[in-house]
Amino acid sequence: MIARAKSLDEQVKALEIRLRALGGDQVTKGPTTGDSPPVTASVATGDFMKLGEEQWQLQECYNCHKLKGEGGKKRGPELDNIGTYLTVDDIKQKILDPKSFMAEGFEKEWEKGKMPDKYKDLMEPGDVVALASWLGTFKNTSVNTPKPIKKK
Ligand code: HEC
Repeated sequence: MIARAKSLDEQVKALEIRLRALGGDQVTKGPTTGDSPPVTASVATGDFMKLGEEQWQLQECYNCHKLKGEGGKKRGPELDNIGTYLTVDDIKQKILDPKSFMAEGFEKEWEKGKMPDKYKDLMEPGDVVALASWLGTFKNTSVNTPKPIKKK
């Protein structure tokens, strides 16, 4: 429990660093004091989104989720419209704690609760934020992504 709390704390810190990085040119002028590592301007928004997309491939999320018409074996919902329903923080929570949200209604189509609870161990905090941020940009309302319901 203690270890988990600590790692969540680190993730929040990483999120703050990444969000500051997303702030563009403020980054170079930003404070470098405190115990957070100084943020360099090399973490541009484009690179950050690319990192998110790389994580999608690396963690093989596509095995269960269809996105941009690719991947998915009908085990999980198509995620092209997930950004309409969930914030980046919500998506991050879902990745770290898959039982935190459940897709509404789709019991017949998908077996619920099948998303692996392993990413919090496999992924670096910053990678989770990048992946969540990248997924949050998908707002294609013509795709029938089921509405996620918050469980905890
Ligand atoms: C073994 C299959 C599987 C894998 C692999 C998987 N998911 Fe899921 N995912 C699901 C299922 C099933 C749901 C539907 C809700 C539920 O039952 O948890 C879901 C739902 C979601 C949702 C929507 C929230 C919700 O509860 O409806 C997001 C966002 C998501 N997954 C992201 C990811 C990301 C990012 C990865 C890779 C790091 C990933 N998933 C890997 C099965 C999977």
